[in-house]
Amino acid sequence: MHVTGTVGPGSPVVELRGAAVGYGDRPVIRDIDFTLTAGEVVVLLGPNGAGKSTVVRGILGLAPLMAGTLSLFGVPADRFRDRHRLGYVPQRHTIVGGVPSTVTEVVASGRLALRRPFARLRPHDREAVAAAIGVVGLSDRSGASVATLSGGQQRRVLIARALAAEPDVLVMDEPTAGVDAANQEILAATLQTLVQGGRTLLLVAHELGPLERMVQRVAVMRDGRMTYDGPPISGGDGAYHRERQGHVHHLDLGRRAELGLGLTGDTR
Ligand SMILES: Nc1ncnc2c1ncn2[C@@H]1O[C@H](COP(=O)(O)OP(=O)(O)OP(=O)(O)O)[C@@H](O)[C@H]1O
Ligand SMILES: [Mg+2]
Repeated sequence: MHVTGTVGPGSPVVELRGAAVGYGDRPVIRDIDFTLTAGEVVVLLGPNGAGKSTVVRGILGLAPLMAGTLSLFGVPADRFRDRHRLGYVPQRHTIVGGVPSTVTEVVASGRLALRRPFARLRPHDREAVAAAIGVVGLSDRSGASVATLSGGQQRRVLIARALAAEPDVLVMDEPTAGVDAANQEILAATLQTLVQGGRTLLLVAHELGPLERMVQRVAVMRDGRMTYDGPPISGGDGAYHRERQGHVHHLDLGRRAELGLGLTGDTR
């Protein structure tokens, strides 16, 4: 049976209940209850190794669900067929490789899942590709080889590739990692455009940074558990270190050193 599910404002697009996800036979995240609702922007935060990417991989079906349930667009994940409604930009992925490709070619590859094998691009495919390149602000570079682009621009090409499939939900694992402050602002503006266009976003990040102003909800992972799920707490970049119930979660020392931060409670 072809099961598509529904999506309207306020309806759940991702629902994890009591979920465990892992690798081999070892769960690395457990007891995860998490709902992503249509139109929301949620950022998954937490230190290295906390399980953020594993949550994302579990939702996308790239790592196995070992306990609990997952539904997508209201349909149990194992019966859900419209995977292209979930767009994905993986972590630490840049575009390298032997064959030089243009921005348009890479973005057009995002429509492969929607087309018959070897079919030519139809006018609507071309429109979707051009629109996706426009959203990430690279229209003037559409004919350029991706090898000539900066790391931040390459990240935007990958976002455009995911967008070209016209997903309802866009999942991005650390879209701001390795992107300088100016380009993070551009990316945040790009994401804002997507949200205004009705997209639902699930983002993974270490820092809220310029994302903070567009985010209504953060979920914090720590040691394979979700320790906080709620509004970001104001107070700049340190916001997510604090759990609402009064617990204080500092970054681990290694991460603080990496960020050039002191070893006390301050975050700057
Ligand atoms: N493919 C894999 N096989 C086995 N274990 C894995 C695999 N990927 C991740 N892990 C383990 O799962 C745990 C959670 O990793 P995960 O990548 O989800 O963390 P993360 O929060 O995304 O970290 P980071 O901020 O470094 O990206 C870690 O202990 C990691 O070593
Ligand atoms: Mg990760």
